[in-house]
Amino acid sequence: MRTLKNILVTGGAGFIGSNFVHHLSNQSSFTGRVIVYDLLTYASPQANVNGNGNGNGTDYLNSAQKLLGDERFFFQKGDINDPETLFSVFEQFEIDTVIHFAAETHVDTSIIDPGRFVRTNVNGTFSLLETAQAYWKGREDVLFHQISTDEEFGSLGISGKFSEVSSYQPRNPYAASKAAADHLVKSYYHTYGLPVTLSYSSNNYGPNQHEEKLIPSMISRMVTGKKLPIYGDGMQVREWLYVGDHVKAIWNIAQTGETGESYAVGSGEEIKNIDLVQMLCCMLAEEAGLSRKRLLGLLTFVKDRLGHDRRYALDHAKIKEKLGWIPETDLEDGLRKTIIWYLKKYNF
Ligand SMILES: NC(=O)c1ccc[n+]([C@@H]2O[C@H](COP(=O)([O-])OP(=O)(O)OC[C@H]3O[C@@H](n4cnc5c(N)ncnc54)[C@H](O)[C@@H]3O)[C@@H](O)[C@H]2O)c1
Repeated sequence: MRTLKNILVTGGAGFIGSNFVHHLSNQSSFTGRVIVYDLLTYASPQANVNGNGNGNGTDYLNSAQKLLGDERFFFQKGDINDPETLFSVFEQFEIDTVIHFAAETHVDTSIIDPGRFVRTNVNGTFSLLETAQAYWKGREDVLFHQISTDEEFGSLGISGKFSEVSSYQPRNPYAASKAAADHLVKSYYHTYGLPVTLSYSSNNYGPNQHEEKLIPSMISRMVTGKKLPIYGDGMQVREWLYVGDHVKAIWNIAQTGETGESYAVGSGEEIKNIDLVQMLCCMLAEEAGLSRKRLLGLLTFVKDRLGHDRRYALDHAKIKEKLGWIPETDLEDGLRKTIIWYLKKYNF
């Protein structure tokens, strides 16, 4: 088991990163320091800042700060493409662990502005790897964990699943930029011996996700009575992982994952987009006391996304067998928790 002391969480003010920091701050066995490093782009859930109003994070970061105290929680606004600031953070906090979430993450935006994805996801990961390499100087008691995605493997037919040994076949600029970043991370392990681990996860959902993403966007549209746009025929299949389960897997890998190894983190909960949105309509109607029929009536089919992958699914047998991780939250429970969280956020 690794003892992680000074953990740099890049993108820690984003959706999964802030959930990870929240989880970490509640681990009594963790006695080290957390340093959140985030550029606070539009994707960071600023709307949830309620602490001292300094704009430095989310509810989760404020609560982590309270739990860990000023000696153990730090926030640094910064760009992963800024090696000087990065290096000074490594030096100041004696970083021994990097959990790398920071990325541009919205597939639709990657189709309009792919350069932004190359800059952040490829060049940014390169600059972070270079900084870690320069600061750690061949140390073995350190870890660089890369957060990756099942989208890098491309699209599946009606059967089969991707796993750690699947070949990379990204089909949109977001997935391609994440795949390129993974290649760099793996090359630093093989070429320079940088201690790395990687995890690929399926689509996440849960508290603190930006409203551009499917589930929060649908919830927000339902409560405001707007149309619910469904791409193409709505038959695309996605596997949905509750973010609380994902961050437990990441913490497990960081502590006990084998250096140089990758882990697929899936839930086994596959559902067609159209069925998911209908399920959301029914559950939200119940929780918010709205008319189910009215919500279902808001469904509208729109032109399909370019290069829209048909199906993603992950086989999580390896992490289950090697590290004992299993998903604990089924889709119905996770969606209900998520709906309740957003209804509270909207004071609904
Ligand atoms: N959300 C999912 O379903 C999902 C699934 C699999 C993998 N992932 C991966 O998990 C990671 C986190 O995803 P998310 O959904 O939390 O994303 P997000 O968009 O909610 O958060 C990304 C965070 O990164 C920060 N950031 C962006 N550019 C930066 C830069 N140049 N320097 C420093 N910080 C920067 C943003 O401010 C934001 O806080 C990403 O690497 C993503 O590819 C996400």
